[in-house]
Amino acid sequence: MSSTPGSRPSTTAIIGWLIAAAVIVALAVLLVLNGAAVWNSFFPPEAKSVQGQEIRNLYDIVFVIAAVIFLIVEGLIVWTVIRYRRKPGDDELPAQTHGNNLAEAIWTIVPTIIVIFLFVISWQSLNKIETVSATPDLRVRAVAGQFQWSFEYLPADADATTKALFTVNAPLGPDGGLVLPAGQTTHLYLRSTDVIHAFYVPQFLFKRDVVPQKNPLHDNQFDLDIPASGAGQTYRGQCAELCGVGHRIMVFEVRALAPAEFQAWYDKQVAAVNATAPPAPSGGQAGPPVNVTAQGVKFLEPTLTAPAAGFTFHFDNKDAGTPHDLDIVASDGKKVFDSKEFPGPAVQDLPVPPIPAGTYQFICSIHPTLMTGTLTVQ
Ligand code: CUA
Repeated sequence: MSSTPGSRPSTTAIIGWLIAAAVIVALAVLLVLNGAAVWNSFFPPEAKSVQGQEIRNLYDIVFVIAAVIFLIVEGLIVWTVIRYRRKPGDDELPAQTHGNNLAEAIWTIVPTIIVIFLFVISWQSLNKIETVSATPDLRVRAVAGQFQWSFEYLPADADATTKALFTVNAPLGPDGGLVLPAGQTTHLYLRSTDVIHAFYVPQFLFKRDVVPQKNPLHDNQFDLDIPASGAGQTYRGQCAELCGVGHRIMVFEVRALAPAEFQAWYDKQVAAVNATAPPAPSGGQAGPPVNVTAQGVKFLEPTLTAPAAGFTFHFDNKDAGTPHDLDIVASDGKKVFDSKEFPGPAVQDLPVPPIPAGTYQFICSIHPTLMTGTLTVQ
């Protein structure tokens, strides 16, 4: 591969330059055609909560500083490699330089300034995210247990020990989830009934552990503000701490409602709790018993058969402390029977009115992914 000075470049060099040119052209085309998407792919998504947006802003500043330093350093390396590469006839080491006080001062002082700057802005972001309002619009306790979430709505003057006004037991779906007013401040307490879980909503760019505490006053807590523009949106949440075999089903939804809509929902929940329990269905209506058993967040019976003229679920919930319910869902997704959840260990008889013959699904609406089976009505 050696060539004499002044001769044409070697084949290797030509191939190298061609590859480099092809890569640069490909990157340029990609940027021109898809600039915004390429640019956005360097950043997390826009956060859907005020606190998450603080985290996002901090990320942006750190990323831009890091990108500028990366481009300067890599640019200098590439320039040095090309400009000072070994050329034909370079058979001796060039003059060597040792020590440069100016360069050393610069590469000590500049990084120090950058680190101090990052420390200050991180500290400011942390303080903003951790700030809690003395008068939040709503206080909610998110309760995590193996393997489900429930949400306890607390009085305005509550602390972490206060009893709930009402509890939403279904973590998902139209009747469940963490329902919050958009444009207002919610104070959240995180309570664990057993092991460490984690409250994580990716779109809030926010995650916090739910640590079991003997003293509830030590529970993790924080403020969550969903901007008014989030009204009507639903955000997926997930336990983010491996907590056992059911970890993957510990999902929940955060549903943001406009304040008026939220108030209507809230008043309805309070009214439902205050309403007296409905009278037991009159005797004679209940049909023959159909046994269903819930154990280990599963139905022991994968299939059931029941008469179309009506029957009674004899529902045995063996899971201590874990609420289950028992609903019947038609093939079009409509619920034809909807029971109230109750924690085990307990047995309840649930009279089911006559329903048309056919194939249905029976589910626990609190654990719909784990607890489901086929019900044949004939
Ligand atoms: Cu709870 Cu993972």
